Amino acid sequence: MKGLVLSGGKGTRLRPITYTSAKQLVPVANKPVLFRVIEAIRDAGIDDIGIVIGDTGDEIRSAVGNGKRWGVRITYIPQETPAGLAHAVKISRDFLGDERFVMFLGDNCIQGGISPLIQQFGQSDFNAQIVLKQVSDPRSFGVAELDDNGRITRLVEKPREPLSDLALVGIYMFDHHIWEAVHAIRPSPRGELEITDAIQWLVSNGYLVYPYIHEGWWIDTGKKDDMLEANRLILEEMSGSVQGYVDRDSQIIGKVIIEPGAEIINSTIRGPAIIGEKTRILNSYVGPFTSIYHSCLIEDSEIEHSIMLEHSAVRGLPHRLEDSLIGRNVEVARSPLKPKAYRLMLGDNSSVGVL
Ligand code: TTP
Repeated sequence: MKGLVLSGGKGTRLRPITYTSAKQLVPVANKPVLFRVIEAIRDAGIDDIGIVIGDTGDEIRSAVGNGKRWGVRITYIPQETPAGLAHAVKISRDFLGDERFVMFLGDNCIQGGISPLIQQFGQSDFNAQIVLKQVSDPRSFGVAELDDNGRITRLVEKPREPLSDLALVGIYMFDHHIWEAVHAIRPSPRGELEITDAIQWLVSNGYLVYPYIHEGWWIDTGKKDDMLEANRLILEEMSGSVQGYVDRDSQIIGKVIIEPGAEIINSTIRGPAIIGEKTRILNSYVGPFTSIYHSCLIEDSEIEHSIMLEHSAVRGLPHRLEDSLIGRNVEVARSPLKPKAYRLMLGDNSSVGVL
């Protein structure tokens, strides 16, 4: 079986981060979401992986490379425009050939990996198997309806009156019949070739389309709050380890990972939290569900339930920073200048909450 990871797209919901970088490379618990996806596919026994890339392709190529680091072979598949998930499948034909494959959205995180579902699909005669998850409000998802034998009979995008609470999760397995489907469908009203339309085509043409109902958590990290939620869930599952330096005036409470070269001086870190390589925490508090990436500085400040990307600094804040996603090379500091005022330099589509 082969793996297909979708890492193109527009990323509009995660602006301004996605103006300058790929959302799939935002670290969650200090590891890019895309790396977690590659590991999940590799751990399911698949070592031939295609990655669909778009405008951020160069950044993804240089971060991921040829896949040797994970013991897999990576093939890049450039998509000229983000014309939909089924379009991404369509342009991957040369890479996939007629093999069965698993398609995984490069910004999704799933608890417990994908080995069981890969095994089930591998041993079945299903033409497609779609990962579904029970959700409390199906109206904001693509939803699958099943018959009494458990076979998928219909897919509905964001149903107003849902007949099922089983949402499509962003992991799909197909055999070669998907090629007929992606060629048969036409763009949706939003101008994209929709994967739900391709699956519906398989269902309507009598192919065997079955669900795999996932019991653990699953998160689409396409928005800030979902990214923070994935960070929280992954940090909760990790165990603590201190490899950096912690001085005698500091306190480490609960599950905390301190990576090599990090320094904690006169500070309190309450886990679950992770402090990246060469990051310095000085006279500060880092609270639960916080991931601080490499080479950052936190000085005379408090931060909790947040993600901070590399080379950023937070200094002298009079109040705690919470629920925040801070990009690369960002500085958040108290200004000593008079008159007292907020002095901001924010990119388009930024959002700031002041006290
Ligand atoms: P989405 O999150 O549905 O779309 P998007 O990335 O364009 O984001 P937004 O809605 O915020 O503008 O895409 C899911 C994944 O699939 C994501 O990793 C990007 C990828 N993708 C492609 O590779 N090609 C495409 O044509 C599309 C639409 C998405």
